[in-house]
Amino acid sequence: MATVAQVAPSSTGSRFKTVLWIFLGLTALFVFITSEVLLITDYPMYHAYRLQVIADRHLLIPHSLCGVIALLAGPLQFSSRLRQRHLGFHRVLGRLYVIAVFIGAFTGIALAAGRPGLPGTTMQAAAWIVCTTAAFITARNRQITQHRQWMARSYAVTFTFVSSRVLNLWPRYWSHLGDAFAAVGVIAFTLASLLIVDLGLNWRELTTRRA
Ligand code: HEM
Repeated sequence: MATVAQVAPSSTGSRFKTVLWIFLGLTALFVFITSEVLLITDYPMYHAYRLQVIADRHLLIPHSLCGVIALLAGPLQFSSRLRQRHLGFHRVLGRLYVIAVFIGAFTGIALAAGRPGLPGTTMQAAAWIVCTTAAFITARNRQITQHRQWMARSYAVTFTFVSSRVLNLWPRYWSHLGDAFAAVGVIAFTLASLLIVDLGLNWRELTTRRA
């Protein structure tokens, strides 16, 4: 049976991958500037949150470092060319990704502890750990198709850091996010990201009728 891993990527497929990564990269850059840079420069709308971030710095530093490692590892790990030419590097970076996700998830839960956002963050962290662990186990079992699928789901959860901040500059989105809405929002972003990835993974089956 032909698997996704065994089929040579078509030029349409690799063009789609390139466009997707450019889009994700530009979105991440936009969020970095409009959320993180403005947070550092004390943008008035973010002032109260900035004080909270400073108070949480001991957890936030390892959390952010691990999150950035996971975020940057994605494009390298999904590159077919890099994987084919440097399998050893792919394995080392893959292990680093797993460690980064575990530390990122547990520090994320610790950051939310005692706050109304805890249920949402716990669900997000659980999805992150489950998808990443499944990706690691399927890689160890040499189930490459399933490994790639679980990695796509894992990275979708990683990317919720970006997608959930795209609207931050919009005051109604930022200031009207009450506690309950913020918790539901995190769950909604996680679920939507996983569904989008799964629709993408099943695109061929969804759009092609068997003869
Ligand atoms: C790419 C992955 C991630 C990166 C780079 C990252 C980085 C950061 C940074 C820089 C902050 C503080 C500034 C800000 O809110 O913008 C933060 C806050 C936080 N992150 Fe993450 N994060 C990532 C993923 C996650 C995930 C998957 C979770 C869930 C387990 C999580 C949970 C949290 C929590 C609870 C806070 C504090 C939010 C608050 O106090 O309202 N993060 N993260």
